[in-house]
Amino acid sequence: MTAVPSHRSQLVELSADALRSRLYEALGLYVTAMGYPKGTAEQRAPMWLAHMLREGWRCVAALDPVDDQLTGICYGYQGAPGQWWHEQVRRGVTELAGPSVADEWMRDYFELTELHVRPDSQGRGTGEHLLRMLLSGVPNGRVLLSTPEGKTRAWSLYRRMGFVDVLRNYRFAGDPRPFAVLGRFLPITPS
Ligand SMILES: CC(C)(COP(=O)(O)OP(=O)(O)OC[C@H]1O[C@@H](n2cnc3c(N)ncnc32)[C@H](O)[C@@H]1OP(=O)(O)O)[C@@H](O)C(=O)NCCC(=O)NCCS
Repeated sequence: MTAVPSHRSQLVELSADALRSRLYEALGLYVTAMGYPKGTAEQRAPMWLAHMLREGWRCVAALDPVDDQLTGICYGYQGAPGQWWHEQVRRGVTELAGPSVADEWMRDYFELTELHVRPDSQGRGTGEHLLRMLLSGVPNGRVLLSTPEGKTRAWSLYRRMGFVDVLRNYRFAGDPRPFAVLGRFLPITPS
């Protein structure tokens, strides 16, 4: 396990076993960073465990070098037909731009599923370093992600890193919030 310093945090790649063993710590970070109600952690746990079994799953974490607590978490996997998110995005891109554009984006991509930094560790480059380290180990030709519309730190990070619009103000089934789907070509430089 090679540790890469990110200002105060150390960045490490986590195996599925390593994330499973600190799942509730990671979910707690996610719930805090997103400002979600506490029960969300229990709700999301089965989904995170299922994601770990997907092809191309890869996770990078930021750790506080003093107490070894998680300060950031980032993971994703290879997108594929049949996955809920894939089918939702495919439907949106097909409606907007036609099936050949959907094919171009979705033939060979990595879905960035989660990226979160503990609020007291934000603004020090950890988010960018996590994302670069995660994506620099990805073999796919493109990366796609979805993020709520609005002026957020996540948006400025994704723009800074060269993500472009794939869909805007898109409504995923069962969620009233408008989302953007953003994407970029890979590879990306590690730092
Ligand atoms: C989005 C998120 C992961 C970004 O993490 P982060 O560690 O704050 O990201 P960075 O530090 O790389 O960049 C954030 C800002 O810090 C600035 N920054 C980076 N390194 C810095 C440094 N050494 N000193 C001062 N500022 C720095 C960046 O320029 C950036 O500024 P901006 O927001 O004005 O563009 C984090 O804000 C987060 O967890 N948000 C809530 C959850 C969320 O929205 N997740 C994404 C869901 S799609």
